[in-house]
Amino acid sequence: MVDPDDRELIISCGAALFNLRIAIRHFGYRDIVEIFPQPEIADLLARVSIGSKRIIKQEESYLFRVISKRATNRLPFIDRELPASLISELESATELEGTWREIMTKIISASTRSKVIELIDRGDRLQMADPLFRQELSKWVHAHNNPSHDGISAHAQGINEKLDVFTPLISLAIRSFDLGKSQSAKDCQLAKNAPVLMLIGSNNDYPRDWLETGEALEHLLLKARINDVWASFFNQPVEIPELRSRLQAMFPENGHPQILLRLGYAKEIKPTPRRTVDEVLNEVRSRK
Ligand SMILES: Cc1cc2nc3c(=O)[nH]c(=O)nc-3n(C[C@H](O)[C@H](O)[C@H](O)COP(=O)(O)O)c2cc1C
Repeated sequence: MVDPDDRELIISCGAALFNLRIAIRHFGYRDIVEIFPQPEIADLLARVSIGSKRIIKQEESYLFRVISKRATNRLPFIDRELPASLISELESATELEGTWREIMTKIISASTRSKVIELIDRGDRLQMADPLFRQELSKWVHAHNNPSHDGISAHAQGINEKLDVFTPLISLAIRSFDLGKSQSAKDCQLAKNAPVLMLIGSNNDYPRDWLETGEALEHLLLKARINDVWASFFNQPVEIPELRSRLQAMFPENGHPQILLRLGYAKEIKPTPRRTVDEVLNEVRSRK
């Protein structure tokens, strides 16, 4: 219910697509990508094939090596600024050799940050007050050893792994109570103290733009990891149409808001559980 148009789902697929392209390049081949190759099949987002041999670029190998080291880090970030040169490098991560993307980034300045934080606050409260949202969220909160390998484990939320046994209780609490006030207090503090708060926007707002946003996002997140920088999201204001319009009005030159995230240095976290390749392929086959 939080993503009725599959916008964020397609952004996620764009992130996966970028990883695949980088892997192909890292192994010394050209990546051939057709976006929406059969428009009558709306779910067929891209067809990727391996092209001829090419020279491996060092930057692409660096990106490849951190794919398995990237994770969403929801811990508080250390009070340490990012160098200005690194911030501009991350901003330019929306570009990829051989392609032109219509994706923009905006660093939220100190003077507008409190207005954006107001929207995060409002978003948390509105979402958590909705029983359907809480039900959906509670289904995604799992113990680390959950056999489905899906969802957000306790440690990915900054909860000590030793307390993982309480994860079912946390899930129950999310489903049963409106925790909007405490969630908002936590998020607003994290947003206030984040060394960088960044908005990613796109010129248009169609599935093609969402897929490109995902590619740009993953590029940025991998570049961040190469430089020891972590990220996590505050997408509540982008998920609620009324708040998304307000965000867009605040930064009209940044197009349609797609992703709001913070960047900074933090304690290392363990990678989020993943489905195995077989599990993914079996699910694809079972849906056919
Ligand atoms: C498009 C998109 C939107 C997301 N929005 C949120 C969010 O609003 N809040 C959050 O805590 N995590 C958010 N995430 C992070 C996902 O929960 C996370 O990527 C997923 O659980 C896999 O974990 P990992 O990033 O550690 O690999 C988002 C991820 C993507 C790709």
